[in-house]
Parts: sequence; structure tokens; C-alpha cells
Amino acid sequence: LSSQHSAADKGLKDYYKDYFPVGVAVGPQSLQGEEAALIRAQFNSVTPENAMKMGPIHPEENRYFWDDADAIVGFAQANKLRVRGHNLLWHEQTPKWLFKDAQGKQVSKDVLLARLKSHIETVVKRYKGRIYAWDVVNEAISDNPQEFLRNSEWYRICGDEFIAKAFEYAHAADPQAVLFYNDYNTERPEKRERVYRLLKQLRDANVPVHGVGLQGHWSIFEPSEQELRQAIERFASLGLQVQITELDVSVYPWEKERRAKRPGEADAYTAELEQKQAAQYQLFFRVFRDYRKQLTGVTFWNVSDRYSWLDTYPVAGRKNYPLLFDQQLRPKKAYQAVVKF
Ligand code: XIL
Repeated sequence: LSSQHSAADKGLKDYYKDYFPVGVAVGPQSLQGEEAALIRAQFNSVTPENAMKMGPIHPEENRYFWDDADAIVGFAQANKLRVRGHNLLWHEQTPKWLFKDAQGKQVSKDVLLARLKSHIETVVKRYKGRIYAWDVVNEAISDNPQEFLRNSEWYRICGDEFIAKAFEYAHAADPQAVLFYNDYNTERPEKRERVYRLLKQLRDANVPVHGVGLQGHWSIFEPSEQELRQAIERFASLGLQVQITELDVSVYPWEKERRAKRPGEADAYTAELEQKQAAQYQLFFRVFRDYRKQLTGVTFWNVSDRYSWLDTYPVAGRKNYPLLFDQQLRPKKAYQAVVKF
């Protein structure tokens, strides 16, 4: 097969082979047909988009659902792709049973930490040696500048201790795995500094945290080059590796216009927007290449504009076009911008 390949078959992973692995978020539905072929040709890392989150993978206290996660890890092994595990602890997509006892009463801190330990041990050990990195704790910092940690059920029941515990349980289950704290808006100076404070505390307490994931749910409007550089440098100064874990570039502003399309309004993906987006992707990847020492991975959140989580988030009823491949899986202008250097 390889003899039939021409330069045109070169994928993102080949352009970036001297820089960092290039990954993509997948579900079990991505593992067949033309989408699977595109993944094999372009990427050398995958992240399960949902399959390893606690709700989907551990729906009842004494029952795990492995099929989707196993299928993704099996596909990765068969095609020599790395796997980033995502995630072991989050305030969203948690199973119903987790915070309650049999009577429906909120569990104590001891019970919750025991459940967390058993969950992390079971999942991490199952994929030991096949998952090289884990997002251990996802989005624990509050968006409210008045608060530090997010006021989640984890926090209300355990105080701040659950974060260090999660990393310790994961490290004990697989001492080789690279363990990440993962969050969004980490380039905005105010949130960046609070994430930094958390990571510094963990490092000072010798908690086994090895990297920080900048999700990278960005847009044609942000972040600025300076914000991006400062974030990478700030986190790397703690001796942590940095990865971009969930990259997409929305064609809508994240906050100024969180609204669905109005009746009669056309989908807004004009040639001008496509050009703007290509320029934005070009800028981001230029910065990524400058930090090849600090940056150990870049992962896109979904394969193509055929399906993106941004089609329904933060509002339903408008299509987004945030990725490098269009709805026919053809490379967009943004793709050319990323591979030309
Ligand atoms: C999203 C998935 O893409 C959706 O399919 C799901 O409905 C919700 O979660 N931050 C994260 C990811 O860490 O796990 C989220 O993924 C997107 C935001």
C-alpha cells in the first residue's frame, strides 16, 4: 500500500513528526469507513470524545460499560496510534449513583473518595501500557473570579482534597502514565493565574501531576498570540509538559453572541470567515512549533465539520465549522495554512 502513496497523501502527523503527535477526538462511530481512513492518514493519536468519561464507562456502581472504550483502544493499537485517556474526574457526565447512597442521601467524603479510588484503579489498570497519558482532573477551577475551585459536588463533599487524591490513585494504578490537569480558557490571564496557582500547590506538595492540558476551544477572535505564548511559558515554568487537548476554532464569538440562528438567517460560513479561520489556525500552529520543547501533543476536538460538538454547544440550532476538514472530509484552507511552513 505504501508504494501507492504520493506526497499528496502526507498527513498532519507526517508534517509534524519532528514536533509533536497530532491527535483527534473520536467516538466508536468514527472507526469505520471513510472517517476511519482519514484518521489513519492524518493523525497519530486519539482521545475518546465521551467513551471513557465516568458516566458512560461506569453507569452503575457495580457495572462498567467497556465496549466503546475497548473499541477505540483496539482501533488505536491496530493502527499504531497513541491514546490519551479522557477523563477520570469531571463535574459533568457523572453517573447518577456516584454522589448518593442507596437511600438517596448524599454520601460522605470517605465514601466518595473510596468510590473515586476504585473507579480510577479499575479504568487505569485495564488500559495500563495502552494509554500513555490521562486527563486526571478536568475543569476543577471556577470561572467565577470570586471563587477558586469550582463549586461542584466533588468540592461540596470533599473540599479541595479530591484533586490530589485523584492524581495519587492514577499514579499508583499506572506509574508510567503521564498525568494531566485539563481546563479551558487557560490563556485568559485571570483564569490562567488560578490554574497556575492550583498546579503550583500540587507540585509543591509532590502530587504526581506531569502536564497541563489547554483545551483550546478557541475562535477566530481569541486568544491573542501573546496570551497563547504567555500561557504556554507560564505552565512550562512549573516543569510541566503542555498539550493542546481539544482544539477547535469556532467561527462564532464564544461569549458576545451565544445565540442560535434567527429564523431565516443563513449559515454564516462565508469565504471571508474561512479565510479568517485559516489565518487563525496558521498563527496557532506557528506558535505551537516555536514551543516544540514544551508542547508534547496537539489534539483536535472532532474529525471534520460533518460533526462537531459545537453544532449544539453553547447553543443548539446553528452549525459550526471549526475543524480542518469540511463536511465532505476534504482539507479546508485552514488545513493548508497548518501544513505550510
Ligand atoms: C464534550 C463532547 O464533545 C460532547 O459530545 C458531550 O456531549 C459533552 O462533552 N470539555 C471537555 C470535553 O473536556 O470532554 C467536552 O466534550 C467538551 C468540553
